[in-house]
Amino acid sequence: MDKDREYKIIKDQCTNESEEPIIFGEGKLYAKIILVGEAPGAKEIEIGRPFVGQAGKNLDAFLEVVDIERKDLYITNVVKIRPYRVNEKTGRKVNRPPSIIEIEKFSKYLFKEIEIIGPDLIVTLGNVPLKTLMKMPNATIGKHHGEIQISDGRTIFPLYHPAAVIYNRSLKETYLEDLLKLKEYIKGNIKFN
Ligand code: URA
Repeated sequence: MDKDREYKIIKDQCTNESEEPIIFGEGKLYAKIILVGEAPGAKEIEIGRPFVGQAGKNLDAFLEVVDIERKDLYITNVVKIRPYRVNEKTGRKVNRPPSIIEIEKFSKYLFKEIEIIGPDLIVTLGNVPLKTLMKMPNATIGKHHGEIQISDGRTIFPLYHPAAVIYNRSLKETYLEDLLKLKEYIKGNIKFN
């Protein structure tokens, strides 16, 4: 079966997994690099695309440092719905971390996206995609950031989540160092054409 057809099938299957709006991955089906985040937030649901809110702005800044363009990537999340709870006082939805059940339910689609695209490199953003792709619940971004990992024959470069850097300013320098390592790795190992 060709990639487009296989991709459409899994996207349709995923869309039927939940009553909540699904934000599936987007980008080139022949991308050499896949970027994997945690889950969409309010803005992503509103616009219908991954990484378009504040986290998306930070992501764009990081892509500039690494010298890659969105159009050369495939961007997705482990969980394809927005994990939220309703604040009892205000009645508003607030983000919460994805549950283990949500991660299990949606990670099978992430593995299929990766299988179809067959990237040379997977860049994980934060703990959730790192643990999911390494299949190691105890793996932490604090321990593995900036170091190439191999899991099931896949090459993974773990980065902090771009949002973590907003909440923890002291990470900024470490994050920048990791981005420069990633840039070097890409330069030496990945040919875009
Ligand atoms: N944070 C993520 O991890 N993914 C998104 O799509 C948006 C914010």
